[in-house]
Amino acid sequence: MKEIDISSNIKGIQLSSCIMNASGVLCQTKSELKNLMKSSSGGIVTKSCTIKSRVGNLEPRYFEWKTGSINSMGLPNLGIDFYLNFLEKSNTDKPLFLSISGLSLEENYLILQKSSFSSKLSAIELNLSCPNIGENILCYDFHKISDYLDKIFHIYKKPLGIKLPPFFEDSHFRKMASILNKYPLFFVTCINSLPNGIVIDIHKETVVIKPNQGFGGIGGKMIKPFSLANIRKFYTYLRKDIPIIGCGGISSGKDVFEHILCGASAVQVGTKFMNEGISVFDRLNQEFFNLLKKKKYSSVNDFKGKLKNFNKI
Ligand code: DHB
Repeated sequence: MKEIDISSNIKGIQLSSCIMNASGVLCQTKSELKNLMKSSSGGIVTKSCTIKSRVGNLEPRYFEWKTGSINSMGLPNLGIDFYLNFLEKSNTDKPLFLSISGLSLEENYLILQKSSFSSKLSAIELNLSCPNIGENILCYDFHKISDYLDKIFHIYKKPLGIKLPPFFEDSHFRKMASILNKYPLFFVTCINSLPNGIVIDIHKETVVIKPNQGFGGIGGKMIKPFSLANIRKFYTYLRKDIPIIGCGGISSGKDVFEHILCGASAVQVGTKFMNEGISVFDRLNQEFFNLLKKKKYSSVNDFKGKLKNFNKI
């Protein structure tokens, strides 16, 4: 019998488990990041950061129900210097992904310039899909995004991946993939939360979060069909050497399997991590391991991307 191996590799970045945390959830402060370092998460992703620290939006700004979550956090973070100093001093074997979300191209330049001196980063996850700040999600503007990425890749030569928002139309997937295929991307992460949802408290007849008139990004179980579809479409249309990190709706080992079957090389857990805490990684690793054993697979690569369609009639 072959050993069962739940590790993965993102262009040479070795993850002891293909399951890690999603940016935004319990990865903002020193103690949260230390907790992740002690956990069985396969890697560590930091809260998206800006140049200066931010307190974020007024509370309540996060709400969870049985099948999903809504948030409009407003990018609370401790600022780039904190994350770089903390990671520089840290002592961990886990790959470190620094998520950045400057509010302008110039701010991202500055963050990238500072980050380029770090010896500890495995890669940057450039977040171009925050639904709660500013007017528009940059990735939804196909004219602006090309120019933006030209400039980013011109100045930053170290490993960099991009966190994408969800897309819903085949023409949009094709267009976005054709743009992304021009760049030396280290990975793409699919997907950020579904933007501009509303959740209602029927007793009070109100929205459930305070910022943005109650509009916020939707995550959790209910977005899984969309994350799977985004992974599948980008797996089909992106260059084969661009790995995909799946994110959205993972709460069991089966969900991890589905993401990988669609083409993900690794996955990130957001809402379920928030809901269950740090032990979620032990549970998911175990459930995923047990599923591979039952299915007689010995590694992620045995079934990655191998989702079957019905035959054409
Ligand atoms: C926030 C939410 C996001 O989905 C994101 O990608 C970045 C920041 C926030 O509101 O803090």
